[in-house]
Amino acid sequence: MIGLIWAQDENGLIGANGQLPWHLSADLKRFKALTTEQTVVMGRKTFAGFKRPLPHRQNIVLSHQSLNLPAGVQQFKSLDELWALNAQQPNDLIFVIGGAAVFEAVLPRADRLYRTAIQHAFTGDTWMPAINYADWQVTAEQTIVADEQTPWTFSFTDYQRR
Ligand SMILES: NC(=O)c1ccc[n+]([C@@H]2O[C@H](COP(=O)([O-])OP(=O)(O)OC[C@H]3O[C@@H](n4cnc5c(N)ncnc54)[C@H](OP(=O)(O)O)[C@@H]3O)[C@@H](O)[C@H]2O)c1
Repeated sequence: MIGLIWAQDENGLIGANGQLPWHLSADLKRFKALTTEQTVVMGRKTFAGFKRPLPHRQNIVLSHQSLNLPAGVQQFKSLDELWALNAQQPNDLIFVIGGAAVFEAVLPRADRLYRTAIQHAFTGDTWMPAINYADWQVTAEQTIVADEQTPWTFSFTDYQRR
């Protein structure tokens, strides 16, 4: 199974200058809880934004180029390798963690969505591709209201394909 996991602002913004446009520790904690001990697949630009591979996860980086990656990080040169991995382990969830180019390419074959939606407008340069939510059923939802610790109200919504 393939799941997309991302955080967006109220306009679908996901990135700014190769980084996240915000710091939201509750979201990072949830991302860690969901993806630890799992496989995470990301585009070359998203990987470049990290200082190191995500620990305790199998890191896979998509790129058409031959990359010099740290030990333990795997490269896929095409999405066919992702489809093949998914076919080998159909009951395991593979998390696709961005960025926009990879989300757009994988969305048609995704089984699950894990969205964090922040109720605020940030500035940036990278947006989530359009998603037809009529194709998706909500399986879980939680809203966290802004307080002293959380600067913005945001919600976690999980979906499965109808
Ligand atoms: N808010 C969030 O949840 C979230 C999550 C992730 C990332 N982001 C943000 O999104 C931004 C980066 O997104 P982006 O769209 O610019 O870049 P990206 O998707 O991270 O990386 C794009 C690169 O991935 C490779 N790639 C993509 N599709 C491929 C395919 N089918 N086969 C082989 N390689 C493929 C290509 O690398 P080559 O050019 O080397 O071939 C492409 O240039 C950053 O600002 C990041 O912080 C936000």
